[in-house]
Amino acid sequence: MQINKHYQDIEETYLFSEVAERVRKFLASGAGTSVIKMGIGDVTRPICHAAVEALKSAAEEMGTEEGFHGYGPEQGYEFLRDEIAFYYERTSGVKLFADEIFVSDGAKSDLGNILDIFGNDNVVAVTDPVYPVYVDTNVMAGRKIIKLQANFENGFLPMPSEDLEADIIYLCSPNNPTGAAYTKAQLQEWVDFANSRGSVILFDAAYESFISDEDVPRSIYQIEGARSCAIEFCSFSKTAGFTGLRCGYTIVPAGLVRDGVQLRKMWLRRQTTKFNGVSYPIQRAAQACLREQGHAEILENIAYYKENAKVMAETFEELGWPYTGGKNSPYLWVKCPYDMKSWEFFDVLLQKANVVSTPGSGFGECGEGYVRFTAFNTHENTIEAMKRIREIDSK
Ligand code: MLT
Repeated sequence: MQINKHYQDIEETYLFSEVAERVRKFLASGAGTSVIKMGIGDVTRPICHAAVEALKSAAEEMGTEEGFHGYGPEQGYEFLRDEIAFYYERTSGVKLFADEIFVSDGAKSDLGNILDIFGNDNVVAVTDPVYPVYVDTNVMAGRKIIKLQANFENGFLPMPSEDLEADIIYLCSPNNPTGAAYTKAQLQEWVDFANSRGSVILFDAAYESFISDEDVPRSIYQIEGARSCAIEFCSFSKTAGFTGLRCGYTIVPAGLVRDGVQLRKMWLRRQTTKFNGVSYPIQRAAQACLREQGHAEILENIAYYKENAKVMAETFEELGWPYTGGKNSPYLWVKCPYDMKSWEFFDVLLQKANVVSTPGSGFGECGEGYVRFTAFNTHENTIEAMKRIREIDSK
């Protein structure tokens, strides 16, 4: 028997597990008591009332003969897919058909699982720094990866170049980890590039609900030509606080065809074979978040996190620490002061301010010398964390 040898090419532990382990050891040492977590992008606001009511009534239904639901459709219940299509039309003017939408337990799983429909010889392009899932899942399959450097010079938004030869291109906008977001014109360049080479863009839109700027698209399908080259991944995790409930969705347009095959059909085949769908109560809760009352409530939570991001941005400006993000995104990507390396600054922040960040080097070589903070904590903790950071800087 043979194990998958490609696992030897990835880090032994996943980035956020490593961060959690270091924090656990720090707390066990008794050195700090009131640690404020601004590392992993996990939300703190409770799910909205509309979602709670939907969960309760779906649970009640499940306890009745008429309302019981067994296996659901692998692609997701039509009521949720219709609601997602309606949400797209309302928020970004994009028209989708329900059979192009696939409900899942979150964007992370789909971003990894989608690779089942692509050959292993495809060359993959990712930006660096990058959400580790795009890299690790491809390394596990032995694919060649090209890294496109993101830095202050290009606004952390790499663009296609004539000599780029990539079959699969991952784009995340607003970006995790840098918080930078592509404009319409920039995304148009990527779409034109992909269409001209027959490449496929895997577009991670998990942070679309944080966008404030008019010229930043919320969906890649706002861009002309995207329906023939892009798959979009989105999630209720950050939009509606579902990190613990688990629900997301992937859009594979009918017009996306490679080698004469509709990728939508391949993905459906993959999902019906390997996935049994998301539970009925969770899908009802997700639907509630996109309807009038639920949507108004989740927008309040997003405004809450954006207020945190503003407080953080003001602090970094005051300290004179170069940063990006925080405007269309819950992430702030900060240059480490005094030329410190990422893990070095991570340790200073943890030990001296009891604040947890994520070391930028964990997102790729170009992330060295940066750390990432999330705006997902409470107002009180965010203000306190910024106060402590100012204090350590003045010492
Ligand atoms: C992050 O912190 O980058 C995200 O929370 C990770 C994720 O969504 O899986």
